[in-house]
Amino acid sequence: MAQMKILMVCLGNICRSPLAQGILESKVDSSEVIVDSAGTAAYHVGNSPDKRSVAVAKKNGIDLSKQKARQFTVEDFSLFSKIYVMDLSNYENVIALSQNPEDKAKVNLILNESMEVPDPYYGGKEGFEYCFDLLNNACDQIVKSLAK
Ligand code: 4NP
Repeated sequence: MAQMKILMVCLGNICRSPLAQGILESKVDSSEVIVDSAGTAAYHVGNSPDKRSVAVAKKNGIDLSKQKARQFTVEDFSLFSKIYVMDLSNYENVIALSQNPEDKAKVNLILNESMEVPDPYYGGKEGFEYCFDLLNNACDQIVKSLAK
């Protein structure tokens, strides 16, 4: 099987997409599926994930500590076969950089039916727990879709 490359995208690449990356990595064979994450904004480039994402991941046996935020770039369309975004604003920002219909076709909301993973940045710990649960379920669905 050809190696699959999946990119998780949010706004800052410090809360939601690092969690999505860590969760999916924990469910796949790293020789078959490469997972990365990026943010549409540059605010946090080079930073480690938010402490609250690190904590909820750790509680679930997942280590995010080696991740560093980076910004999404146009090259990501050629590097990745699938790009999952967290919300509609991420979707618009990524689509705005697409160069052709093939690029566009790679981009999907990570949740079904235009549901969004809410931005937990300005809230409390519960928002991060909720994100974890949403992303954990979403990653189970992604793994199922890869097996087909
Ligand atoms: P993320 O959350 O997109 O899930 O990483 C955010 C992180 C930082 C900011 C907004 C959202 N910010 O405005 O700095």
